[in-house]
Amino acid sequence: MSGSDVLVKARGLVKQYGPGARVVDDVSFTIGRGETLGLVGESGSGKSTVARMLLRLIEPTDGAVSYGGRDLLAMKAGELRAMRRRMQIVFQDPFAALNPRMKVREILAEPFAIHGEREAELRGKGQRGRLREMLGEVGLEESALERYPHEFSGGQRQRVNIARALALRPEFLVLDEPVSALDVSVGAQVINLLRDLQRRYGLTYLFISHSMPLVRYLCDRVAVMRKGRLVELGECEQVCEAPREAYTRELIGATPEMRV
Ligand SMILES: Nc1ncnc2c1ncn2[C@@H]1O[C@H](COP(=O)(O)OP(=O)(O)O)[C@@H](O)[C@H]1O
Ligand SMILES: [Mg+2]
Repeated sequence: MSGSDVLVKARGLVKQYGPGARVVDDVSFTIGRGETLGLVGESGSGKSTVARMLLRLIEPTDGAVSYGGRDLLAMKAGELRAMRRRMQIVFQDPFAALNPRMKVREILAEPFAIHGEREAELRGKGQRGRLREMLGEVGLEESALERYPHEFSGGQRQRVNIARALALRPEFLVLDEPVSALDVSVGAQVINLLRDLQRRYGLTYLFISHSMPLVRYLCDRVAVMRKGRLVELGECEQVCEAPREAYTRELIGATPEMRV
């Protein structure tokens, strides 16, 4: 990753719901192309809110987001829609994110339909071939296509979510605690899959977690949030070895083993 090649830039992000305290307050960071930035902090510190603002799934109260050098917040609906192909999110709960009444085949075909590109994207190989390929990329067999979400384990469901997120070949993925709901060993396999996919496709990740060991394993730099603010940001090695903030030390101490 070249340090100057910034893909995502957040500046002074603020989110305030109603008259209460700000849930995100003046948060700024950049993510380099091909980089994995970790975002850690205790529950309720504002991580998911930051992630959603980055993708403009919710509107910031204040601040700026640029993506590939362009002002995301200034984009009109059509432009934003085109942009959405390039950025995707994988959520913590692999079950809640999947429609229980849809077969995996329908779940994976949905992004193409939403973006009105069913024909262009799926022509050539044919839809089934493309869907089979998507499943292969996340380590699932073709037979999964005709099954429903409840027929899978948590780890397999998260693989379906990842396949769906990758359907339109995005360049940027927000991973919002993607293995927090999984057993340690299953989670570790999913983490390794994410690493492999990143290498294969040159993906850029924002990896949200409250496990410092996991962040250290996967991330280049880490941003630490507390009560809506960024309290520390630096190279993973450096932050883990010599945290400046007592709060960061607590986070490190709270997760001695590979837990998420
Ligand atoms: N839609 C909402 N309306 C009001 N408050 C919200 C909303 N979404 C999140 N919050 C509050 O914002 C704070 C940060 O939440 P969140 O970003 O989900 O934190 P984290 O992902 O770090 O656990 C929490 O106090 C939460 O209750
Ligand atoms: Mg969250």
